[in-house]
Amino acid sequence: MTKRKRILFTGGSGKAGRHVVPYLLDRGHRVVNVDLTPLNHPGVDNLTADITQSGEMFNVMTSYANFDELEPGTGVPRFDAVVHFAAVPRILIRPDNETFRVNTIGTYNVIEAAVKLGVTKIVVASSETTYGICFADGRADPKCLPLEEDYDVDPMDSYGLSKVVNEQTARAFQRRSGLDIYALRIGNVIEPHEYEKFPDFFANPEQRRRNAFCYIDARDLGQIVDRCLATDGLGYQVFNAGNDDNSANLPARELIDRFFPGVPVTRPLGEYEALFSNRKIRDILGFREDHNWRKYVKG
Ligand SMILES: NC(=O)c1ccc[n+]([C@@H]2O[C@H](COP(=O)([O-])OP(=O)(O)OC[C@H]3O[C@@H](n4cnc5c(N)ncnc54)[C@H](O)[C@@H]3O)[C@@H](O)[C@H]2O)c1
Repeated sequence: MTKRKRILFTGGSGKAGRHVVPYLLDRGHRVVNVDLTPLNHPGVDNLTADITQSGEMFNVMTSYANFDELEPGTGVPRFDAVVHFAAVPRILIRPDNETFRVNTIGTYNVIEAAVKLGVTKIVVASSETTYGICFADGRADPKCLPLEEDYDVDPMDSYGLSKVVNEQTARAFQRRSGLDIYALRIGNVIEPHEYEKFPDFFANPEQRRRNAFCYIDARDLGQIVDRCLATDGLGYQVFNAGNDDNSANLPARELIDRFFPGVPVTRPLGEYEALFSNRKIRDILGFREDHNWRKYVKG
């Protein structure tokens, strides 16, 4: 069990957050969910606020979590960590400029408030789309495989670009403050009920090419966030957040030969190793997946 932390979590009512927040609660943390709509889950505290409003972010970060915190009479406790997931989560939901505006201004506001209020650990949701394959016009090849964190990210869409800008925002605030700010390049999030899609992924693997075949189980994403909260002193970091294997039942070499022919491979890969590498979270954060797809789907 990690030390109990008081966490402000933005976007906890969404697809990823509704699994990550319960994971953090189960680990004993207190979680205040800041979202436009509340998360209906036992034990979570909710505040309705808009990340694009700077004043609201400063305000929620200096707020009581709930009525019980009035009782000691010692004022508002500090947040130990801010986890920022709220966003427009892809292109083609809002106009492109609005996706860019909400994601970049929102992330600026959340990180600025957290840093200026002295929150010492900040985790922000970046994305696999920064690698520029997912929402590319046409069939884009990566510059090399596996996709690792030192890649020169170059998306051509407003959502992926917003996440690259957010990583730079995180980096700037970390450099200025010396605090820990970790950006998670989250892979394609799979909720427990979505393993029913995997047989179709296996029958038609081409549909997973734009994700470079990555996936992250939403509960394993909870573990990754918890490991970020428990691992201090790393400054600014970017981590791919993915599972060990591909969302395909083919060996890694065959995936590359069929779907990314001619793309340079920079290191030897395990037989089924993810092309969206999670080596860094395993090596540095000690991540060990609990929810490989083979637990839920016949290969
Ligand atoms: N789902 C994926 O496969 C995936 C992959 C990579 C990265 N991500 C990133 O992970 C994070 C969570 O994604 P998700 O799939 O859960 O998205 P989601 O849309 O399901 O959830 C996002 C949440 O943010 C909230 N939100 C949106 N705008 C807001 C605002 N202005 N103020 C306050 N709250 C606001 C929404 O109400 C929603 O509950 C996002 O940052 C997304 O970009 C998701």
